[in-house]
Amino acid sequence: MTSARLCIGMTLAPTWLNGHAWRRPDSGIEQLLDLSYFRDLAQRAEAAGADFLFRPDTLFHPNLANGPGGGAGGLDPTLLMTALAGATTRINLLTTISATFLPPWYVARMLMSLNWLSGGRIGWNVVTALDGHRNFGLETMPSGAERYEKAAEFHALVTRLWDSFPAEALLQDREGGRILDETQIHPVDHDGAHFRVEGPLSLPAMPGKRIPIFQAGASEIGRDFAARIADGVFAATPDRDAAQAYRGDILRRAAGHGRAQAPKVLPGLSLFLASSRAEAQDLFHATHRGADRARRMARLKLLTGVDFSDWPDDRAVTLADLPALPEGLHSQTSALLLRRMIERDRPRLDDLLERPETIGSPHWQVIGTPDDAIDAVRDWQATEAADGFIAFPGGSVACLKLVLDEVIAPLADPASLWDCDAERPTGFAALFGA
Ligand SMILES: Cc1cc2nc3c(=O)[nH]c(=O)nc-3n(C[C@H](O)[C@H](O)[C@H](O)COP(=O)(O)O)c2cc1C
Repeated sequence: MTSARLCIGMTLAPTWLNGHAWRRPDSGIEQLLDLSYFRDLAQRAEAAGADFLFRPDTLFHPNLANGPGGGAGGLDPTLLMTALAGATTRINLLTTISATFLPPWYVARMLMSLNWLSGGRIGWNVVTALDGHRNFGLETMPSGAERYEKAAEFHALVTRLWDSFPAEALLQDREGGRILDETQIHPVDHDGAHFRVEGPLSLPAMPGKRIPIFQAGASEIGRDFAARIADGVFAATPDRDAAQAYRGDILRRAAGHGRAQAPKVLPGLSLFLASSRAEAQDLFHATHRGADRARRMARLKLLTGVDFSDWPDDRAVTLADLPALPEGLHSQTSALLLRRMIERDRPRLDDLLERPETIGSPHWQVIGTPDDAIDAVRDWQATEAADGFIAFPGGSVACLKLVLDEVIAPLADPASLWDCDAERPTGFAALFGA
């Protein structure tokens, strides 16, 4: 069962500047490193009633050829969220930190610090990283299995560090002259396969404000990790069948791990919206117009292992044309989604070159009016395909505005989250029944 209350996230990645959209006169591209740009956006998302802001991240120089949002480049997400904590009062703030390269003690402290500074409004998107090893002294990228094994140890360690200095240890007893109850603070003395950490953490946990965890595993091992640890699971599911199957799988795995509280599954939702469907189609095509054929061919080759450059445009591509999945892919998930679509649709080459899976977004996509988007969300919610979504507006600042004002605002239920009645749990984790 999906709950009646949708969980709605809004990306800060500026996906609305991807493709050609950044070249529009009103795109605001010049402000992309300014606090005021994100402050304005955060405040508008908060006013619309979104549950959280999400900033993705990678730890390498991104390929910005597809636009400023495509590569998740730009400002450090946790610093950005710290700044936005001071510019907002209610909206939750989801930062992304990789478990592959950074030291867990440092990450645990950074997240708990931001939890305090934001009044318990932060969440952690635990990623294993797609690339970037050379920025951290590694010659080769660890395999998916190694990265997830490390992420499991990293996450467990960060959680133990948060617990190592519990809120109850903070006495602040002026009369008795005791600031701390040292007996409640414990080292973690962790000596694992990847990390050795003594602990404890240098600051206390925030009382009643657990930090919720997000994950987006798509591979077997990734799904299992997400199902075991995450409160919110992001999904790249281009159609409803894929989303139902993914969500069902995550819930089954979570139950198998003995979890009482099922994680919420939140697919990415790419939105190209305008006041009519025809205008929305124009927006989509204008955004991707001329996106150079050679680059699309190169992406197809990367994901399929096939060089299609000599193929006639009208030749159908079938699964039989593809070799086994190439090794060493940045994103196995994108490759699998593309194969799935080819198996299902047997598209002509010219059609394949226009598909979102080729152009770069493997997400659920609505190209239409705000009402179309609302209908799609309600449909996915009613058919147990999604517990909410994370909005990726595309094409223009005007589309971003439509997403906030005419999709998120009518769908959001701010009252159930922002009721500050002392009886109710508050903080980001409250969204997940904690
Ligand atoms: C909505 C969404 C957001 C994601 N954000 C990030 C991110 O910010 N950084 C990152 O390295 N990976 C990100 N990913 C990729 C996932 O962490 C994960 O690597 C991917 O879904 C493939 O799963 P796998 O690692 O199990 O193969 C995201 C995925 C989705 C669906």
